[in-house]
Amino acid sequence: MSATKPLPESVLISESCLQNRIRELGTQISTDYENRELILLGVLRGSVLFFADLSRAIFGAQLTDAGREVQIRFEFVQLTSYHNSRKPSRVQLIHGGSDYLEQRHVLIVEDIVDTGHTLKFLSEYLRTLNPKTVKVCTLLDKPSQRQVPVAIDYIGFEIPDAFVVGYGLDYAQQYRNLPYIAVLDET
Ligand code: PRP
Repeated sequence: MSATKPLPESVLISESCLQNRIRELGTQISTDYENRELILLGVLRGSVLFFADLSRAIFGAQLTDAGREVQIRFEFVQLTSYHNSRKPSRVQLIHGGSDYLEQRHVLIVEDIVDTGHTLKFLSEYLRTLNPKTVKVCTLLDKPSQRQVPVAIDYIGFEIPDAFVVGYGLDYAQQYRNLPYIAVLDET
């Protein structure tokens, strides 16, 4: 199969800007969950790079403050959504969730919250697993596209209504490995 022709892109959030903000999030999360066990729940596939860097930023914050300790455990879910202009978005669980979440502190790690349908579906699904607390951390928030209200506890960057790729986010499964966030020029 031949690769899709690349589209022109321009950098929206540079690699250093991303990493600085993720360090700040790591410090904030390690303070908020001090001396507790925290389950980082990554939403596949888009969150993988953010998930990896955020988890290390939480560890890094502990190193700079020797008294602080957060025990981190990794879990993942994979969701798929169907977008159709005539019907509301439909989200389905492909894989994930575990009984281990019962009575645990869970932090959902997302790359982007757009319409909010994915997060709403996941929050409702998690409720059936009876966790102690559920919070949400997203790298990007695009509030202009919201169709359903969702609560977000940690936001990396609020972005305008543009098609963004990179750092986990794709266009036709490409661009996920860019170390920065870029805007695609689809014209
Ligand atoms: C993207 C992203 C979020 C979701 C947000 O996932 O990773 O999970 O869309 O959109 P929403 O707020 O409009 O629901 P996508 O379904 O593109 O799958 P991917 O993570 O595999 O790229």
